Amino acid sequence: MLDLGVVSDGALLTHRGAIVALGSTDEVGRHTLAADAEEIDCRGKVVLPGFVDSHTHPVFTTPRLIDFEKRIAGASYEQIAAAGGGIRSSIRGVREASVGQLAGHVLRALQEMARQGTTTVEAKSGYGLSLESELKSLQAIKIASQGWEGTVVSTLLGAHVVPPEYRDRPEAYVALICEQMIPAAAGQKLASYVDVFCERGAFTPEQSAKILRAAVEHGLKTRVHVCQLTEAELAPLLEFHPASFDHMDYVSEADLPMLAQSPTVATLLPAANYFLGLDRFPDARQLIDAGAAVALATDYNPGTSPTPSMPLVLSVACTHMKMSPAEAITAATINGACALQLQHRKGSLEPGKDADIAIFDVQDYRELAYWFGVNRCERVYLRGTARA
Ligand code: NIG
Ligand code: FE
Repeated sequence: MLDLGVVSDGALLTHRGAIVALGSTDEVGRHTLAADAEEIDCRGKVVLPGFVDSHTHPVFTTPRLIDFEKRIAGASYEQIAAAGGGIRSSIRGVREASVGQLAGHVLRALQEMARQGTTTVEAKSGYGLSLESELKSLQAIKIASQGWEGTVVSTLLGAHVVPPEYRDRPEAYVALICEQMIPAAAGQKLASYVDVFCERGAFTPEQSAKILRAAVEHGLKTRVHVCQLTEAELAPLLEFHPASFDHMDYVSEADLPMLAQSPTVATLLPAANYFLGLDRFPDARQLIDAGAAVALATDYNPGTSPTPSMPLVLSVACTHMKMSPAEAITAATINGACALQLQHRKGSLEPGKDADIAIFDVQDYRELAYWFGVNRCERVYLRGTARA
């Protein structure tokens, strides 16, 4: 993670959305260029692979300002959720919105992300929590992604929490996810992944396993929100070969060797800890030092992390989790690509990969994690196309 492969006085050549050559300006300059080739002067700047934001929840309609004020007054995330706030308070807006309205919200978020250097985004449903509204949310992601030049990976998160109408019969809601939502999302090709919030107050490990099994049976890949508030056993979840375990604030030390040997990425979301005002952050050092693959993502959502900014996440990772700037950049690019199983196309600047490029007005890559509250991203290319 420490070796970024920095090329000083570097250049890269792209053609039709892909990287063709990369090296020193002299080396790349020897290629024959098309007559209409455009040259972009990046002297004195840092050129990075676009960030891969591998965990976001962009399908919601309104900010959760009541939760925000309650937390300021001293209530915890779990107390607010138990009192009917939290995820459940975002349901109504999504159920009442049209697919076009939701797509508008998602597109705006994607555009804001790209402005800060993000070129690939994983986007989850999870605030509809009925068959119709979860499919509508996935449709909205699809429509928004068609209006954006970047790359979107979509995830069904019907298992975010049990919606109020199923409060007394959670097993019936699990059955609805397994027997209707997953088959419909797979059949209509609306999602690549299924995610579950495996946590106290959301879904038990047994319910989570049922849902992940149904996902695999329908040809969908898996990822899991786990260990955000409490420790959970990872071995039973690893059976479903999740691409990623997300949050990972409370990981049992005994699980570290197993995690290090598995291809499952630990995706840390420290902007959520920051926004919830927590003292504790995921133990990135312990995970990295144990040999686990660590990614960073925004967790963009209305309850715990209303930020589209990967540079902010880098800042928090370095200041509160003691990741080095190089580790944080690796976690936000190639390791994020691994968390989406897109490492062959995304996450690094290499010939053959997509021309997803972010240019920052800084002299040194470490400045990406150093400045905060300011956007130093100057230009972004999404598969070769300049951000509008
Ligand atoms: O990743 N933990 C579950 N889901 C989100 C929070 C969603 C919300 O509060 O709206 C998260 O932090
Ligand atoms: Fe999340």
